[in-house]
Amino acid sequence: MAIDLIIGLQWGDEGKGKIVDILAPKYKIITRFNGGPNAGHTILFDGKKFVLHVVPSGIHRTSCMNYIGNGVVLNPVLLCEEIKNLEQAGINVKEHLFISNKAHIIIPTHCAIDKASEESKGSKKIGSTNKGIGPTYKDKVGRDGLRMVDVFSDSFKEKYQNLKGYHMEILQDLYKEHFEIASIVDEEEKFFEAIEILKTYKICDTVELINKEISKGSNILAEGAQGSMLDIDHGTYPFVTSSSVIAGGVCTGLGVSPKSINKIYGAFKAYVTRVGSGPFPTELFDETGETMRKIGNEFGSTTGRPRRCGWLDLIALKYTCTMSGVTDLVILKSDVLDAFDKIEVCVGYLDENNKKLDWPPIDMSLVKPIYKSFDGWKTDTTKIRKFEDLPKKMIEYLDFISNFIDIPISFISIGPDREQTIVV
Ligand code: GDP
Ligand code: IMO
Ligand code: MG
Repeated sequence: MAIDLIIGLQWGDEGKGKIVDILAPKYKIITRFNGGPNAGHTILFDGKKFVLHVVPSGIHRTSCMNYIGNGVVLNPVLLCEEIKNLEQAGINVKEHLFISNKAHIIIPTHCAIDKASEESKGSKKIGSTNKGIGPTYKDKVGRDGLRMVDVFSDSFKEKYQNLKGYHMEILQDLYKEHFEIASIVDEEEKFFEAIEILKTYKICDTVELINKEISKGSNILAEGAQGSMLDIDHGTYPFVTSSSVIAGGVCTGLGVSPKSINKIYGAFKAYVTRVGSGPFPTELFDETGETMRKIGNEFGSTTGRPRRCGWLDLIALKYTCTMSGVTDLVILKSDVLDAFDKIEVCVGYLDENNKKLDWPPIDMSLVKPIYKSFDGWKTDTTKIRKFEDLPKKMIEYLDFISNFIDIPISFISIGPDREQTIVV
């Protein structure tokens, strides 16, 4: 029983990075198991802010080793940039980072296809981060992908050219109007430079290492990327990402047994945000949504896009907690609601025939939320450090959420800084 897990319960950007960084000192290994540079995990301490994309959020803790698991897809150029920034901040990445030799590689034409495919969809676009995630996982499942182990093979360039050739056919046949060949040439040079740099880091069998650590009883924390409502199977398909985001994804994404999983922390915001297209039952299009975006600084950590904002949706939250067997809830950004007079929480849906639902239907775009209203606590909570010092009205609100979902809240985050966290 050695792996604890943190997953996002909404549409991503719940604040997973902050919580991983806080919990990290209790663990020997922090490991990512899904997604790629579409993720942006923010950490703030001593007045400094770091955004991590594929490097796990334990990298700022010298006691932790950080693994990029086999389920992750890597862009060598972006990973090198991320490593460079960390090294400039004085972190010994060479010693503390392990990259799975089974992780798939994002090549420049994956990004070109992602971008061209999105552009060709017009108003039906997914709102992808255009980091090549979908096309790379497509090649993985189609058994055409390149893996980190391949960079050591004499035939790496040949394998690369074969894959690129296949992509160029797709680009020229399907997306002629949406792509420029010149951009690929420039990126290809940087790609091969980055591959040479990465070869000097630890590219290894992380599955063997993790399983040996499990047998020794070491503590491991798996850091989920994205949010469960973006899961390839259980999210709002097709407006989803291309990996398994729910707890089940950790077994395939790291090569570990379900029996090795212990605690499952589920992170959620006190309201909901979504970046990109797709259904969002509690979305606000009025001034209240605008206020959430402003106070919560809801702009994407990876793309800078404004995030769509809305009230907390307990039907979606219960659904995602159930699928992953969440044992501990972590609520973040409740401070954003500090100044609100009224706070709404969605406790049910009405379908097109006004039938009440307590489980998200396959097409969530057709439901209307049923709200329960709470009086706001109208208190600055950002300096509070003890649960018992929280305003009474906020505790009532937290109790309602915890009772509705039937899972205890273990952490409350009341600001972006490491210090702004209450252990319940
Ligand atoms: P992640 O992808 O789940 O790691 O989350 P992101 O880093 O993309 O987005 C979370 C944003 O909220 C970041 O800018 C954090 O610095 C910030 N944040 C995290 N926790 C809190 C909190 O409790 N209150 C406020 N106001 N901001 C927070
Ligand atoms: P973290 O780990 C929020 C969204 C994109 C888009 C959809 C598909 O920071 O929570 P993709 O690039 O995967 O093809 O995009 O998924 N998305 C995220 N939204 N946080 C993320 O990661 C996301 N990763 C992908 O906006 O709607
Ligand atoms: Mg994020």
